[in-house]
Amino acid sequence: MSDEAPPPVLRVVDVQLRPMRAEDVDAALDVFADVAGEGRWLGTEGGFDRTARRERFLAGIEDPNATTLLVEDPVTGRILGHGHVHVARYGVAELGMALAADARGRGIGGALLDGLLETARALGAHKVELQVWPHNEPAIRLYLSRGFAVEGRVRRHYRRSSGQRWDAVIMGLLLDEALAGEEPTLPDGTPLPDAPSLPPDRPREGPAQGPAGPAPRPPL
Ligand SMILES: CC(C)(COP(=O)(O)OP(=O)(O)OC[C@H]1O[C@@H](n2cnc3c(N)ncnc32)[C@H](O)[C@@H]1OP(=O)(O)O)[C@@H](O)C(=O)NCCC(=O)NCCS
Repeated sequence: MSDEAPPPVLRVVDVQLRPMRAEDVDAALDVFADVAGEGRWLGTEGGFDRTARRERFLAGIEDPNATTLLVEDPVTGRILGHGHVHVARYGVAELGMALAADARGRGIGGALLDGLLETARALGAHKVELQVWPHNEPAIRLYLSRGFAVEGRVRRHYRRSSGQRWDAVIMGLLLDEALAGEEPTLPDGTPLPDAPSLPPDRPREGPAQGPAGPAPRPPL
């Protein structure tokens, strides 16, 4: 047996995660505005209402069912990005995240996502759900690496400022894998069918709503 010291553990990222406070909101909004302004990653595009978004960020700090985590450079104190989870009354955490362009591709997103998943568990969620644009390969790879599954795709769903209508991919992660093996049933014990089987001539009804409420919002 060699008595050589083991090789040092390589740290890809050295960042600090912490919950956002009211005094951080403007720095977080600056990152959000830059990423939104890129026009290709988030649901929000440049030119959004900053005052309204500021109010939303502040309200999120007070909301017991939500947490926003900031990624901070421990040396300079610069806010590199942020992510949030908001747990709906039916136990599903909606997740969104954004990093400044020069902070991407170094594994920081992984550290942030791990922190957000831990937070979602602590807030009592049984599942995390999000929507991502189909072209957002880094984000999709990151979510897949943490066990998320593609649950569906909404087609030509979101109108962009260009007038184009983009698809979005729905991804979900069960925080307790045992849930995947559960047989969901109606109150009388009838198993839920895999897919709705409607008679072919049934007229379409009003706007689609999930059984537990509205569909998740677009990426962030
Ligand atoms: C999505 C985001 C948070 C990911 O964070 P990140 O720190 O860049 O991600 P990582 O460095 O951990 O990389 C994640 C994966 O994507 C890959 N990747 C990174 N940059 C990539 C690129 N430009 N093209 C393709 N794959 C890329 C990495 O190799 C890694 O995959 P791997 O684990 O299989 O190697 C970050 O890119 C971001 O903020 N993007 C803009 C906002 C956004 O898209 N938010 C998500 C909306 S749903």
